[in-house]
Amino acid sequence: MHLVKTSATPHIVILLLSWLLFGNASWGQTDPSAWMTDPNIESHVEQLLKQMTLEEKAGQMTQFSIGTPTGPGTGRSDYKEMIAKGLVGSILNMTGASETNAMQRIAVEQSRLHIPLIFGLDIIHGYRTAFPIPLGLSASWNPELIERTARLAAQEGSRDGIRWTFHPMIDIARDARWGRIAEGAGEDPYLGSAIAQAYVRGYQGQNLANPDSLAACAKHYVGYGAVEGGRDYNTAEIPERLLRQVYLPPFEAAVHAGVATFMSAFEALNEVPSTINSFTLTTVLRKEWNYRGFVASDYGAVGELIAQGVALDGSTAARKAALAGVDMDMESNLYGPELPKLVRSGAVPEAVLDEAVRRILRVKFALSLFDKPYTPEVSDSSNAIPAASRELARTAAEQSFVLMKTAPANGAPILPLNASVKTIAVIGPLADDGAQMIGSWGGKGTAQDVTTLRAALESRLRQSGGRVLYAKGTDLLGNSDSGFAEAMKAAKQAEVAVLALGEDAPLMTGEASSRAYLGLPGNQQQLLEAVVATGKPVVLLVFSGRPLVLKWAAEHVPAIMEVWFPGVEAGSAMARVLFGDVSPSGKLTTSFPRAIGQEPLYYNALSTGRPADKVDLTRPPANSEEKYHSRYVDEQNSALFPFGFGLSYTTFSYSPTTLSATTAFASALNQGSDTIRVSAEVRNTGKVQADEIVQMYIRERGTSVARPVRELKGFRRITLAPGASQRVEFTLGRDELRFWNIDMKNIVEPAQVTVWVAPDSTSGTPAGLTIK
Ligand code: NOJ
Repeated sequence: MHLVKTSATPHIVILLLSWLLFGNASWGQTDPSAWMTDPNIESHVEQLLKQMTLEEKAGQMTQFSIGTPTGPGTGRSDYKEMIAKGLVGSILNMTGASETNAMQRIAVEQSRLHIPLIFGLDIIHGYRTAFPIPLGLSASWNPELIERTARLAAQEGSRDGIRWTFHPMIDIARDARWGRIAEGAGEDPYLGSAIAQAYVRGYQGQNLANPDSLAACAKHYVGYGAVEGGRDYNTAEIPERLLRQVYLPPFEAAVHAGVATFMSAFEALNEVPSTINSFTLTTVLRKEWNYRGFVASDYGAVGELIAQGVALDGSTAARKAALAGVDMDMESNLYGPELPKLVRSGAVPEAVLDEAVRRILRVKFALSLFDKPYTPEVSDSSNAIPAASRELARTAAEQSFVLMKTAPANGAPILPLNASVKTIAVIGPLADDGAQMIGSWGGKGTAQDVTTLRAALESRLRQSGGRVLYAKGTDLLGNSDSGFAEAMKAAKQAEVAVLALGEDAPLMTGEASSRAYLGLPGNQQQLLEAVVATGKPVVLLVFSGRPLVLKWAAEHVPAIMEVWFPGVEAGSAMARVLFGDVSPSGKLTTSFPRAIGQEPLYYNALSTGRPADKVDLTRPPANSEEKYHSRYVDEQNSALFPFGFGLSYTTFSYSPTTLSATTAFASALNQGSDTIRVSAEVRNTGKVQADEIVQMYIRERGTSVARPVRELKGFRRITLAPGASQRVEFTLGRDELRFWNIDMKNIVEPAQVTVWVAPDSTSGTPAGLTIK
């Protein structure tokens, strides 16, 4: 029995047959990768593959975008005819149950083999309920919370016909100039791996077959975060050891979490565009990691191989990409027309298409698309965001805020704001702009859903008999100071001024948003200085998708909090944190520079032979003793706000770091038969309950290759009441201690290890471990 039906076959019969043939997915729920080797799925894939023509195979490998207002496009609009002929495998950028169902009906009812389409979309930080941007979410250091945000996004997106999200974006990014740093989890591979897995678990749910599960997509594979100069789409040079040590781990972690798909990156990696990089796509992904999901190209990237200079025509581009291991051509419209010809001419073995189609069909079966190709069309007239979803968005926003400075102003602590405050000046172009709060990948979030800072503070002060004096001050990219006087007047009349300044989310953050300057845009810096000059206490809220250079603010503004782009509950989360209903608890996942010339800047760097750690870097070198070090003559080396850093309304003390053993053997560690327990007691020494993110770092010395001055190897978010303490324990074993050594073996070597349990990447008391 096979699946071929005439196009006249009634739809219900097809569905029934599909159900009988394919039944329900039979994989267990504990192994997230079980679907990749499910014998039931495999046999269905093979049955179908046997019946496919070359054109139908290339069709499954073809994806088109619908509804994109801009972009390279394909010049085609006859999608429906193509789908009916089985020449399209996937559609992106189409949303809505009735819209996707209408398209799906053509695929399922009219195409010869009735293979359903898979609808993909960039669901990045929420769909209907907009959460903080991913860089903000990562500052929560809370994978469980991130998983919940992804789960909700999957539920909302799948109701709109989407079963595939192009997320998580797990590019390690060390350069703040790159706009896409906003979309990831920052600069650290250990944290990035944990967060990558959290997203995959959240999107894919308990079982991919559930109708509210989305296939996740690990992107952009790989090294995209290292584009030179932080300029988007530029090239990246990453030696293999660094690639394996820093850039590949989140992708491998995603494979372990069962991620259904990958997306290859735009950039040329070591002179080989990622779209045709058979080392990363085949050697590493398929041979080393045994990955069995499918790889899509990035948007139009197969066609871009011509501009990249590795193909003179579309046929060559298609051939090279398919041979390297890109299974689906997103929007270039090259696989469809070219691959059948290339197979017929012998330039591409048919087995290459077969394998790509297997991977694609495997995911479609795993998603149960054959059983349930359609999305129930339930009309929800209210279309309001449920309270529980808002609550999750608010918690996520609160945990993402990073308090970077809080100093007394006029002798009194400025934050949290006093509950009895009667007048607050709320100033700045981001104080009342709902659309900006949604961030760069807004999904279906709308400005109307957002509570702004102004609205939240107004409602709060109304209840306590106080009032907000609002002044926009200037535009986001403004150059007129005509609003400054009103802003200064508001500040003068108020007890405290809260400034909402930062970037333009759609213009300056995310894709194609690299910046050569990292200050506050427009004349916002001048506005800040004018308001500070009034002498009133100022709280600066920084909205950004990247680290900004905040040197002046760090010296002159008593309180600074980074709030990223916080999502639908922006205002209420900020109001709650400002007033101390909840203490800020986020910590930075990316280093904030003092000057743009420090970029790329990251904490887990190597030590030079001339470290400047004992040199006074606050002034230019006065003599050769001070000069001949790895330093800048005009700026300090360190970050202004380092990785892992974030303050709280309370204070925490850390006991010395203790180890369960001070000696260990590389042989036992390599076998996995030994681990060292590392711990410290953390105490809340202040007056309010708060969360603390406890971090464990190591440094290895005496090794065959140089290792970073610090590497994160564990973290935990804990909650402590005032006076309470907790011993926080971590484990050091093979996974934490091994690295790619001089022989390119990933092993534990004899080493002197320094271990810290610390509140950030620059502090903590060291403990020593000798690995023999
Ligand atoms: C291009 C972006 O690089 C990628 O992240 C995104 O998923 C695709 N466009 C599809 O929108």
